Amino acid sequence: MTAFPKTLALMQRGAEFLGTDYAIMCGAMSWVSERGLVSAISNGGGFGVIACGAMTPDLLDAEIAATKVLTDKPFGVNLITMHPDLFELIEVCAKHEVTHVVLAGGLPPKGSVEAIKAKGAKLICFAPMLALGKKLLRSGADALVIEGNEAGGHIGPVATSVLAQEILPELAEDNLVFVAGGIGKGDMIAAYLEMGAAGVQLGTRFACATESIAHPDFKKAFFRANARDAVASVQLDPRLPVIPVRALKNKGTEEFTAKQREVGLLLDQGSVDMNEAQLRIEHFWAGALRRAVIDGDVENGSLMAGQSVGMVKTEEPVADIIQALMAESEEALSGR
Ligand SMILES: Cc1cc2nc3c(=O)[nH]c(=O)nc-3n(C[C@H](O)[C@H](O)[C@H](O)COP(=O)(O)O)c2cc1C
Repeated sequence: MTAFPKTLALMQRGAEFLGTDYAIMCGAMSWVSERGLVSAISNGGGFGVIACGAMTPDLLDAEIAATKVLTDKPFGVNLITMHPDLFELIEVCAKHEVTHVVLAGGLPPKGSVEAIKAKGAKLICFAPMLALGKKLLRSGADALVIEGNEAGGHIGPVATSVLAQEILPELAEDNLVFVAGGIGKGDMIAAYLEMGAAGVQLGTRFACATESIAHPDFKKAFFRANARDAVASVQLDPRLPVIPVRALKNKGTEEFTAKQREVGLLLDQGSVDMNEAQLRIEHFWAGALRRAVIDGDVENGSLMAGQSVGMVKTEEPVADIIQALMAESEEALSGR
């Protein structure tokens, strides 16, 4: 593996931690990151992550088993902290000796860090700001992902470039920090590695790979889109703590506004509490994303995509995408 010496030298810590050739993670994408894409990423030298989303423990059990048939390389499982069966899902990961668990959706609930690490799995957490990153590391996270506002799917308020400047100089020397959000080319990977990142995480760039099960119409919408088409959802009701979602503009975007109105009304009437209201919003997104990814309803479904979508032009095998990213990074570093 001598093709990319400068990039590999900077990726060494991250690749060792992940057990991969390259410190390139494909972030979990609900409905998209299943056995096919995840195994292709790991077989291509990167790190695939199964999106558990709202899966039941039985479904996750089957998905991990099926992924293991397709790859003998390491891969991770992304669990969402607010899943009602979180601890059962952790048990499923332990049963399969999943090497890395990625926890998304806020601070890990009490006991979850210990449960994940009890069987030797490594824990990766999302750090949306420096103070939280420090807290997560103190609580036992083995690595952090800092994900900026340019990303596809659920997003935080701050740009990747700003998070990188705030967090990498403070934490990256002594800890493993992966950067996500808005990365479309290897030049950007080179830049974050030079700033001290252990590696990177991409989603949008991989969503339309040949091995991705996303519907052909979903992929076409990505190929046609520009950066400015990937917009963040708008929060209508200040009471509803809705996490913004970045997706391509379509009728589904408007339906989200209607959904917020409907849930806001139920809150007014007292027929749901805040927790239930939030769950209903999350179910809306899961359903809308499924309609677009699986059914190909690109009008009414949710086309979650990051701003890097403008750099996704054609369907390519995962291995080619990874090699292209590495070559671009190497060229950038060689020209310094
Ligand atoms: C279609 C889509 C679905 C996603 N679903 C999830 C998810 O279920 N869980 C999660 O933690 N992140 C999710 N993400 C975020 C990705 O894992 C990744 O962090 C993000 O795409 C990186 O930014 P980028 O899109 O700019 O490459 C999703 C992203 C996309 C594009």
